[in-house]
Amino acid sequence: MSPIYQATASAPVNIACIKYWGKRDTKLILPTNSSLSVTLDQDHLRSTTTSRADPSFEKDRLWLNGKEEEIKDGGRMSTCIKEMKRLRKQEVEDKNPAEPKLSSFSVHISSFNNFPTAAGLASSASGFAALVSSLAQLYQLPVSPSTLSLIARQGSGSACRSLYGGFVAWEMGSAVDGSDSLAIEVAPQSHWPDIHALICVVSDDKKGTSSTSGMQRTVETSPLLQHRINHVVPQRMKDISTAILARDFDSFARLTMADSNQFHAVALDTEPPIFYMNDVSRSIISLIVEYNRLSLAAGGGYKAAYTYDAGPNAVIYAPKENIKEIIQLIVSYFPQQKDSFKDNFNLFSADVTSQ
Ligand code: PMV
Repeated sequence: MSPIYQATASAPVNIACIKYWGKRDTKLILPTNSSLSVTLDQDHLRSTTTSRADPSFEKDRLWLNGKEEEIKDGGRMSTCIKEMKRLRKQEVEDKNPAEPKLSSFSVHISSFNNFPTAAGLASSASGFAALVSSLAQLYQLPVSPSTLSLIARQGSGSACRSLYGGFVAWEMGSAVDGSDSLAIEVAPQSHWPDIHALICVVSDDKKGTSSTSGMQRTVETSPLLQHRINHVVPQRMKDISTAILARDFDSFARLTMADSNQFHAVALDTEPPIFYMNDVSRSIISLIVEYNRLSLAAGGGYKAAYTYDAGPNAVIYAPKENIKEIIQLIVSYFPQQKDSFKDNFNLFSADVTSQ
């Protein structure tokens, strides 16, 4: 019987505190600014991918949640698979000719998200990170998560940050070939285990403007983006790393909320403007602002930080001890949730993962 070459890996979702928005190279997916995220963990929020290589397979094939998807020639999926095969050849087969020539076999890949589509979360970050991780295991690649992040990045930019748990930076880099545009660990989850994330699903509608076309339009038309990438993000990247290393939640919260606000301002500064948040998103912002204001007025610190990606759903970061109170607050402020929201107003609470 011929040997079976198969491996399974999973990767979690990440949510940025300093947002990536804008590409300087659309093919290699090189960003116009560095970004920083927190990798979430919860049983609901992971993609799990199995890859199998076999000499009898005629072509690379992919199934997402059980349904076969086309792998387009020259597309992002095909680029990631090609790059992983190239690494296998370079790092394993060329160095040790006795190793099986897996790089010349086609692969079959099957991936499942264990979070419901109703979670309204982009699955591309966990999906491409899990794909690259499963191929790395299949190919027995002796490389670091940062090296793998170079490849996941070419599937979906934010995916490069899901190769690490905890607090992760995507360094924008400066090389034209993208060789230094990769993810690095700022701090592991164990450094600051107290931080939790609460995901408030305001709507699971498919977003009106995809991140790919939205970014392109912003890069082409927004003067505010130029200010953001040149004069705001570089300092924020330093400040938020310092805040994380010092476990300083006040600074972390202020920077996270300011950066979410500026990202949505940049979307609005795009022509034609892009609106990702809706009235409910904005009400949640007001609620968190008031919650923090009352705490600060009483001599306390920040209690929570909101952030929004390219959609209306809120992610609220807070020390674990505040999460119950925040859930109670949100539920009491939105009592007609069943009528006013399309589905339910889902709340997921997630730990930061150690991968
Ligand atoms: O990687 P993409 O193309 O899904 O873009 C992600 C963009 C944001 O989620 C809005 C910000 C970020 O840094 O994750």
